[in-house]
Amino acid sequence: MRGMCTLFLLLCGSTCLLASVIPKEEILGAVRDFQQSGRAADAGDFTHQASLDEHGRFHLLWKFDSETITFEAHVQTTGYIGLGVSPNGGMRGSDVIIGWVKDGQAFITDRFAEGYFEPRLDAHQDVELLSGYENGTHTVLRFRRKLRPCDTAEDREITEDTQRVIWSFNDLDPLENSLAGQNGPHVLYHGSNRGSKSIILLQKNPPTLDIQDSNILSFELTSSNVLVPEKDTTYWCNTMRLPRLDRKHHIVKIEPIIQPGHESLVHHAVVYQCKLGQVPPMLDGGHECYHPNMPEEWGNCNSIMTAWAIGGKGFTYPNYVGFPIGSDDDPDYIMMEMHYDNPDRISGQRDSSGLRFYYTPIVRMYDAGILDIGVNSYATHVIPPRAESFDSTGFCFGLDPYLQELGSPIKVFASMPHAHLAGTAVRTKLVRNGVFQSYVGRDETYDFDLQEIRLLDPEVMVQEGDQLITECTYKTTDRTQATIGGLSSREEMCINFIQYYPRMKLTRCYSGLDINQQAPFFGVYYAGWEYPFPIYYPDSMVNQTLIDVINQHPWTNEEAERFEQYVRNTQVFSYTVPEVNDYQLIDQPADPTMPNDNSVSIPGC
Ligand SMILES: *[C@@H]1O[C@H](CO)[C@@H](O)[C@H](O)[C@H]1NC(C)=O
Ligand SMILES: *[C@@H]1O[C@H](CO)[C@@H](O)[C@H](O)[C@H]1NC(C)=O
Repeated sequence: MRGMCTLFLLLCGSTCLLASVIPKEEILGAVRDFQQSGRAADAGDFTHQASLDEHGRFHLLWKFDSETITFEAHVQTTGYIGLGVSPNGGMRGSDVIIGWVKDGQAFITDRFAEGYFEPRLDAHQDVELLSGYENGTHTVLRFRRKLRPCDTAEDREITEDTQRVIWSFNDLDPLENSLAGQNGPHVLYHGSNRGSKSIILLQKNPPTLDIQDSNILSFELTSSNVLVPEKDTTYWCNTMRLPRLDRKHHIVKIEPIIQPGHESLVHHAVVYQCKLGQVPPMLDGGHECYHPNMPEEWGNCNSIMTAWAIGGKGFTYPNYVGFPIGSDDDPDYIMMEMHYDNPDRISGQRDSSGLRFYYTPIVRMYDAGILDIGVNSYATHVIPPRAESFDSTGFCFGLDPYLQELGSPIKVFASMPHAHLAGTAVRTKLVRNGVFQSYVGRDETYDFDLQEIRLLDPEVMVQEGDQLITECTYKTTDRTQATIGGLSSREEMCINFIQYYPRMKLTRCYSGLDINQQAPFFGVYYAGWEYPFPIYYPDSMVNQTLIDVINQHPWTNEEAERFEQYVRNTQVFSYTVPEVNDYQLIDQPADPTMPNDNSVSIPGC
């Protein structure tokens, strides 16, 4: 019997099966009344765009509202194109569309990838094809979908978190009349025409600014013809002196300057601020970051001022706020860390991309402040190896005195979550009287290789008595040794750089873990404070360090979870800049009461 069934399916092929399940038109989402003008598409009303591949063959434009996202893919092929959102950059578990244009008619299919093979058709086709054409060299498809799908088994929600966008194409259209079964028209393997890119699809649209205004001045910080190494990932650092000004000015906008053709190579840039006292040696043309030869002083520039990432148009301050430069408290230097993404290891590429800063002498009502909150980046922040998921929590205990001095609440308008390579999620909770109010920045699918400021809309008000609780999740399944807190990318951080107004004096507000509060978990009762924490008691362990003992611990997922709970119940230090000499150990506040997510229904389902 089984053999017969198979035979029946094979003989039957695509047409009858499809016809019996769903009307074919619906599956294929065919569009007949499209505009076939042949002109380059009008990108006018799209707010975001990015090249997904290195050669600019797959260019994506998009825009969104509170419920839907509309894409327009311009792909240099006359075959099919694939675009999807993936849980991790791979195919398995991805929500994929495959579309093409054949004989002047555009088609789209909504699919789900169960593995590294042709994605099957979804039972419900939830993608709306709006238009499509081929112009001899390119296929252009415009389509729309809901951000929050009704069908959560086969469609992935698109959130404000970092999305792993996967793409593919093939110069042949799907074989419509071949044996296709449930997979719909058979799609040939895409070969090497595929890839994955981290993109914050739902980055908020920036406020508008008239840069033609004669009061708007600018300066640029660019790479100078940097030879991009033949490796997957390069961080290139470059410093510059800020303009010398006789009084306060406001930076009001920062935008990328991308060398034409390098839209995919230049992946993101982070700008750090530094004071004159920490003068980093200026090197013409810059230097590879984190390299042993990088000037050590550059490490002093560790407070983030701004960041830009692929797909972003830059950052514009709300029109009542500016980032102050030119007065005594302001930074004198900036350092730009440019991330080059060269997965095909192309050699000989020279880049002169960078950032343009717009500033004005007409100062705005508020100075923007930047506050770093989270876990103090020191070796007492211990993350066990072999953990699928390990959470660290940081508190800001020192806020109230500064809010009192300011005499008003602050409003947070932007956030940049920051962890290193093991970080998979970063979120800050605003808690009032033990009850969660809102997130002050959040990314549940964080990617170290994509650092960008995210506008918070609406702004979040923080008042006296509020708690800011920053949580980071790490995945260390590929590590055999414990990871400790620190500034290098091999070490970990758990920080959210939040931008707010009006500016107060507080710039850093962390909680610091105490090594001796954690030591009893490993049977150690007294250890020295300096890394690697020499053991003083019990006597039987004095020839070891706590780090040795931690590395020898039989770590499993369960042990990591037990340690996470243990650490969450220790007492911690408050660490602030400007520094307050108060080394009291403080109890960690309990987890806040969270709203019940299930009560939120999805509109239109
Ligand atoms: C075809 O479309 C692509 C993508 O929009 C565009 O770049 C190209 O110039 C178009 N070619 C012609 C001949 O119109
Ligand atoms: C620690 O090392 C010293 C010197 O090697 C040795 O004399 C001592 O017995 C060791 N102590 C323990 C508890 O192993």
